[in-house]
Amino acid sequence: MSFPVHRMRRLRQNEIIRSMVRETVLLPEDFIYPLFIVYGEDKKQPVKSMPGVFQLSRDRLQEEIDELKYWGIKAVLLFGIPEYKDEVGSSGYQENGVVQEAIKTIKDLCPDMYVITDVCLCEYTDHGHCGVLDAKGNIDNDATLELLALEALSHVKAGCDMVAPSDMMDGRVGYIRKRLDEEGFSHIPIMSYAAKFCSAFYGPFREAAESAPRFGDRRTYQMDPANAREALREVALDIEEGADIVMVKPALAYLDVIKAVKEKFGLPTAAYNVSGEYAMIKAAALNGWLDEEKVMLEVLTSIKRAGADLIITYAAKDAARIIRS
Ligand code: PBG
Repeated sequence: MSFPVHRMRRLRQNEIIRSMVRETVLLPEDFIYPLFIVYGEDKKQPVKSMPGVFQLSRDRLQEEIDELKYWGIKAVLLFGIPEYKDEVGSSGYQENGVVQEAIKTIKDLCPDMYVITDVCLCEYTDHGHCGVLDAKGNIDNDATLELLALEALSHVKAGCDMVAPSDMMDGRVGYIRKRLDEEGFSHIPIMSYAAKFCSAFYGPFREAAESAPRFGDRRTYQMDPANAREALREVALDIEEGADIVMVKPALAYLDVIKAVKEKFGLPTAAYNVSGEYAMIKAAALNGWLDEEKVMLEVLTSIKRAGADLIITYAAKDAARIIRS
């Protein structure tokens, strides 16, 4: 037998055989597309640090929903930029709040669109933190839980299909589960931002959602980027409390965590390809330094290869278009 015996290149000779042995294939239904809903009328405001992403008012949603449908994207994740903010984030849990109204609009436009809502207070509090503050100005974990539950309930009553708590308060998944069940919504799944790290990659999002904290940072509730074992504990607790889907966020710098979570728990696993990951590629592409389409697809493929079943990404429409072509 001639040397070498094993010739890995045999199965790489042309695209037909390469596609036949390909282990990871992206599909449009893997993607969840985030939408930023802004209070008011006739608004389509570009987010500077995220080319292609806009803050949209409810009356401008039709075009967006049509486009998503066209590209085969089946799910959206809603964030709200409300009319006003206060200490307790009350605009986040009103019956006619910006997200609550957007849910109804999307369901009217397209009943088949799967609507997931981000449940957190940071977009609605005047201090920009994900929970309410106690007298000393610290985040009050337990006082925040009922407000998050009220927010989740108001989304569900408006007609959303799934809620996604992203605040990182302890016990919130169990608390929200209990309150949803009590109110007759035991059929609504929870996708928890289970291992959410305190990441600098959220920068552009905070411009998009106008949710940057006014003081301090989120290190007392979001996870230390150095900790993978702790991430597994966070995920285990959320599963115990009733999470149906667990999320790792961000994605690209945390592929090891995605893999570990998937292997250990085997639950449907989501990964959030966050704003900074998107912005980096866009910025490099604008300078002509990277091939945007190829890099975007490579990144999304790596996230799925690591174990993500669902990928929340601002590149959903672009990726779906590339996949189809
Ligand atoms: C709300 C929330 C954030 C993101 C999703 N939900 C911001 C944060 O925690 O600071 C970030 C998403 C992104 O960067 O794309 N808590």
